[in-house]
Amino acid sequence: MTYRVIQWATGNIGRAAVEGIVAHPELELVGAWVHSEGKAGRDVGEVCGLGALGVTASQDVDALLALGADCVHYSPLLGRPDEVIRLLEAGLNVVTPLGWFYPFRTTGAGVAEIEAACRKGGVTLHGSGIHPGGITERFPLMLSALCTNIRHVRAEEFSDIRNYAAEAVVREVMLFGKPLEEAANSVMLNVLGHGFKQSIDMIAAGLHIELDAEKRVTHEMAVATAPIEAPVGTIETGTVAAQRFTWQGTVKGEPVITVRVNWLMGEENLDPPWRLDGQRFEVAFDADPPLELVFHGMHPPEVGQDLDRLPGIIAPAMHCVNAIPYVCEAEPGIKTYLDLPLIAGRFSP
Ligand SMILES: NC(=O)c1ccc[n+]([C@@H]2O[C@H](COP(=O)([O-])OP(=O)(O)OC[C@H]3O[C@@H](n4cnc5c(N)ncnc54)[C@H](OP(=O)(O)O)[C@@H]3O)[C@@H](O)[C@H]2O)c1
Repeated sequence: MTYRVIQWATGNIGRAAVEGIVAHPELELVGAWVHSEGKAGRDVGEVCGLGALGVTASQDVDALLALGADCVHYSPLLGRPDEVIRLLEAGLNVVTPLGWFYPFRTTGAGVAEIEAACRKGGVTLHGSGIHPGGITERFPLMLSALCTNIRHVRAEEFSDIRNYAAEAVVREVMLFGKPLEEAANSVMLNVLGHGFKQSIDMIAAGLHIELDAEKRVTHEMAVATAPIEAPVGTIETGTVAAQRFTWQGTVKGEPVITVRVNWLMGEENLDPPWRLDGQRFEVAFDADPPLELVFHGMHPPEVGQDLDRLPGIIAPAMHCVNAIPYVCEAEPGIKTYLDLPLIAGRFSP
């Protein structure tokens, strides 16, 4: 069985996904939507630096819908629900690292329309990634099966953001280089928190926890004390150069699920002087036994190395790509890790 796939946008994630789709034995790349006019009409393999693949990048949504593909891997800058609904209604399964990880308890907004679009198209929407979309909830849920007396679950990222060469994401979504007051009050805080809060809800659903209605959110920032060079340009003195977001699910006011990111533009010239002490992701259980899982390999060995093939981008892209065969076979609707079978990668002989 071969599933015909369209890649939607060719940024960092999109480029890694194209490479992954082409390498996957059950997937065939049949189309690609691109945002920039300069990419339209070119071979998408050339756009992604992979050499010609015989698939032309396009901005013509109707033509892409008419390809009769099975699935879209949807990874533009920000997710547009109207666009996702259009894809679903047209009978295309959608896998994305942009949200819909577990959208049922956050606000509920849009869930009914999306479920209706899935039923109309006879297809499935699945949100995946690493953080959120993997380390945050899939791996804690898997690990939880080894524990009893679970009292607290933590998923935490420690990353040097000088490795992430996506200017719009780093500056406009993640708020690096912004004045403190602007970052503290940005609408992007909700965009960032939305997915992580959904992950907390998925863990709570899986572990049968009745959480308090509101999540606890903390946003700590450090500023640059000197200009910091990054692939997204200079982070100027006095602007946001490190952030620690903590989202918590509580029961009667006590935290039971903690999701945190430590995002630093290096470990020098920061006020306060924060440190990462090694880039990694951690999943930890206060339970019996008190398990801790540390993920290495999702950051380059040297800061600034492999920016074109960043492990922390390949991993979320592949988590999505590897989900495609399972999503295409799933019942219509929004499907999460609690619904889908175990998603696996494929051996490369
Ligand atoms: N869940 C996870 O674990 C995870 C991990 C990594 C990233 N992500 C998310 O995935 C998304 C993509 O990340 P990335 O690293 O690929 O970012 P990126 O390198 O900046 O790529 C963004 C893509 O969106 C396109 N784009 C720019 N402006 C647009 C607009 N106004 N409308 C539609 N498309 C637009 C760009 O097109 P051009 O190249 O043609 O300009 C590019 O293809 C981000 O939202 C990021 O937060 C999630």
